[in-house]
Parts: sequence; structure tokens; C-alpha cells
Amino acid sequence: MAKRTVRDITVEGGKVLLRVDYNVPFTPGAAHIADDSRLQATLPTLRYLLENRAAVVLCSHLGRPGGKVVEELRLKPIAERLESLLGRPVGYVQDCIGPHARQAADRLQPGQVLLLENLRFHPEEERNDSAFARALASLADLYVNDAFAAAHRAHASIEGVPHHLPAVAGFLMERELAMLGQVLHTPKRPLVAILGGAKVGDKIGVLENLLGRVDALLIGGGMAATFLKAQGCRVGASPVEEDRLGFARALFRKAQARGIPLVAPVDVVVASAFAADVPHRMVPVDQVPEGWLILDVGPGTIETFKSRLQRAGTVFWNGPLGVFEFPAFAEGTKALARLLASLKEATTIVGGGSTAEAVHELGLEGAMSHVSTGGGASLEFLDGRVLPGVAALLDKES
Ligand code: 3PG
Repeated sequence: MAKRTVRDITVEGGKVLLRVDYNVPFTPGAAHIADDSRLQATLPTLRYLLENRAAVVLCSHLGRPGGKVVEELRLKPIAERLESLLGRPVGYVQDCIGPHARQAADRLQPGQVLLLENLRFHPEEERNDSAFARALASLADLYVNDAFAAAHRAHASIEGVPHHLPAVAGFLMERELAMLGQVLHTPKRPLVAILGGAKVGDKIGVLENLLGRVDALLIGGGMAATFLKAQGCRVGASPVEEDRLGFARALFRKAQARGIPLVAPVDVVVASAFAADVPHRMVPVDQVPEGWLILDVGPGTIETFKSRLQRAGTVFWNGPLGVFEFPAFAEGTKALARLLASLKEATTIVGGGSTAEAVHELGLEGAMSHVSTGGGASLEFLDGRVLPGVAALLDKES
């Protein structure tokens, strides 16, 4: 069901509570923001609201402070970065409810912005406490959700506040739902999905749901070891999810029965230990030495993937193909990112989290059709679940 957006309501002169996800990769003590793309992604909504003379009260979580104040997780550095990105002052208040937040929100004039303190300093946020949701809602007269990346959390600022205010989607939320929705419902075919990352266990739902929709499914990352073992390969000392071997075998059987290619790596980079600077070499998948670990895919795998991707109409990618944090084992992920960036005809959609970070690090986001801001949220969306933060918004037709 399509959701109403900021375009469908009158924002002029209103006070808007704008839920964003500014949970950015952050080095606490140093207050260093490693990647501000989640801030940048909300600028179109912010600018639209401000240009249309709304007063904007921003709220977000950062990290997992566990319901108490953690000095290092205050949002002040985020307010400062946002101010420079937006090119206008961004107020900041050291709480998200209570007298200080109220005063600051009351004083806010049309065209001004205020960032409230980390929502998760209050345990009521994650509990979806209704009094807390009401207190947040009382700061504004409209609610806009642009926090797609947190829409899978039924928290007070996401699911609770919409019970008290007219609630619509921002432009980022709208775009995420449209682009990821395209993968599920209206892909230009062939649709090819590439899933990597550490664990099969994290991707069960999405693997199952996508297998029923894709024209080919390509597997990489740490989780490939479980798929390779399920195919009968010896994977040395690579961590294998023994309890997921049955699932992997069943997925191969289902894929075969449906005539869907389920493609595992054909060559891999193996190392003598899980560390950045250790001896490593390239081997075919049936020659992983005893005691060595698979830490990346090899060039033969990229070539195999390429032959599928060059004909694709839509590509969805989530999860690095190797241990991207270690430069020696980042080559597979980099090669795949470049390959996707070179596809001129296909719609290329990249899932958030570490995959998005890899694409940003390579400066390739502009060459993709869409890089999602959502990690967990995009996976839950693609495994077919209705996200609580989306369900809470007004339907277009209501
Ligand atoms: C994310 O980064 O995936 C979101 O901000 C949600 O964060 P969480 O997993 O701590 O709820």
C-alpha cells in the first residue's frame, strides 16, 4: 500500500517532528563521523520542509546506549556536521523530552531546525512506551518519518508517535520503499541477487523470499563456506554454520527444481589465520588447504558472476564478498562494486550497512541506481515483512 508523503500534506507554518536515522559509523571519543551519507540522504526532505516554511524538530538514535545517558553518544557532533551540510544553523538540545526540549521546540520559528538528543537515552524509546511517544508527539503537530533504516524497529519514535500525529513519509523513505519494492514486485528482468556477508543465519528469510523471485542468486562472503560445504567441498578452517547446512542443501534443491541458478564461488582467497596481514593465496574451491580459512572470493568467481550480471535488468546486492575491513581480502567486494557500477542498462540496488559503506568508500554510489541507507531494515523488507515504521504511516488512499 502506497504511503502519503510530505507532498500530500500542508507543511507550511507547521511544526514537524522529523524522525531520521543518524546512526552513523562513529568513533565515539574522537567524535569522528566516518560516513555521513545517512545525513546527506535526509537533506532533500529537510530542505523541502524548510523551504516550505515548516519548523523542523529532528530526532534520531545513535548506537545502543541501553536506556541511559552515554556522554560519547550525544548527538552534538551530528548537529554540527548537519549544519555544515545544510548550510544553515541547526539547534541542539540535550534531551529529547522534558522542559528543555519543550522550550527549544516552542521557540522554533518557520524555516528553523532543531536536533533533539539521542532518543535511546530513555529506555521508554525501545519499549515503545506510549507516554514517551505522547511526550515526543507533543513537540510538533505533524510527523514525518525519513528513518527507513530504523523502520524495522517498533520503537516509540517510529511506531508510537504516529498514533498521536498525522504521519507521512519523507522523500528518503519514499525512495527506499519504491526502489526496494521494485526488487520484490516489478523488477526489470532478469533479476539477479547477490548475497554475501558473514552468516547464513542472518539471511534465511531473504534467501528464501528472493529465491522465489529472482532469475539467478549469487552467493559470496563468509556465508559461502556453509554453501560450499553443503555442496561437498572441504572448506579448511573456515567457520561453517553446521546447523544451517540442511537449509543450504534444501536451497540448492529448490533452486534446481525451479531452474534458478544458485551460484557459489568457484575460487577463493584463503589465509592461514583470520588477520589483516597473514600469508594468503588463491585456490579453486575444491583445494582449500587443511587449517586455512576462506577470506575472499577469487577472480574466477567475479568472472562467473559477471556473465550473469551483464545480462541483468535489475541487480540487488547485499553483503560484502570477503573480509572487506582487511585490504588483502577486499578485492572481491571492490571488483563486484566496480562491475555493478559499469552496468549501464541495469537498475542496480545496493543494500545498506557494510555493503553501502564499501560502495561509499570506493566513491561509486553515484554510479548505482540506489544505495539503501538500511541494513537490517532492507533485509527485513526484502524478506517480505511489513516494517512497523512503514505500517504506521498514513496510506495514500486513506
Ligand atoms: C541500523 O543502523 O541498522 C539502524 O540504525 C538500527 O539500529 P539498531 O540495529 O541498533 O536498532
